[in-house]
Amino acid sequence: MQIIKIENLKSQVEGQDILKGIDLTINSGEIHVIMGPNGAGKSTLANVLMGHPAHEVTDGSVSFLGKDLLDMKVDERAKSGLFLSFQYPQEVPGVTVENFIRTAKKEVSGIMPMMTHFNKEIKGRLSELSMDEKYLDRYLNVGFSGGEKKKNEILQMAVLNPKLAILDETDSGLDIDAIRVVYETVQKLSSENNAILVITHYNKILNYIKPDFVHVLVDGKIVKSGDLSLAEEIERSGYEVFKAEKTSEAVRA
Ligand SMILES: Nc1ncnc2c1ncn2[C@@H]1O[C@H](COP(=O)(O)OP(=O)(O)O)[C@@H](O)[C@H]1O
Ligand SMILES: [Mg+2]
Repeated sequence: MQIIKIENLKSQVEGQDILKGIDLTINSGEIHVIMGPNGAGKSTLANVLMGHPAHEVTDGSVSFLGKDLLDMKVDERAKSGLFLSFQYPQEVPGVTVENFIRTAKKEVSGIMPMMTHFNKEIKGRLSELSMDEKYLDRYLNVGFSGGEKKKNEILQMAVLNPKLAILDETDSGLDIDAIRVVYETVQKLSSENNAILVITHYNKILNYIKPDFVHVLVDGKIVKSGDLSLAEEIERSGYEVFKAEKTSEAVRA
């Protein structure tokens, strides 16, 4: 089943072109990885899909589960099953992790989860992520280490059970053990009923997560798509070769 179809998506921020025609289709059961150099537009793609107000869509279309995603408000996108794990999670003093996730679950599912059931589920998820139960009573991300913030994002993903989870550089700022736990958990959360889009510029995550497709994003465009061997090519030669390919295409055009 098709989860999302992105066609010729273009965007601007502060009048500057960032996304320059993204085409990407993701079906259920698939894991896609987008790699690319800093400033390529990877976070922008995630933010545009989630409806971040700083980004203006100037062209293209996005169909999400058959609906026009670009026409939906941010909360409607979340309720429809879109989840974004942020590159830089925000601290929210005064709101505990437990309260936040339970409320988010209610907003997304339409019903307040039963306390006993919810507690059981969230404690199981915490243990999968090697997180202590005491996190539930702490204020969201306040004083969390980089690794704890990212694990907390995956905790939300696990409980909210989205149709499409976009993970934006969930590896950044994490030590290798946290990276392993995070991506092994993400791999376990992958199923026939959902899809996962992992944004990274870190090859090592591919030891823990097995994508069906790898895409290279350079200067607002997907310049190459392939399988895992494409990530190996990047590991060997970096992004310069893709930048060069793009330039020569532009010259030919
Ligand atoms: N909210 C914003 N305001 C101004 N510029 C932005 C904003 N978001 C992204 N950009 C710019 O868009 C470009 C792409 O950024 P980004 O999508 O974060 O790249 P990546 O995630 O691939 O490193 C950069 O030049 C960045 O400065
Ligand atoms: Mg980014």
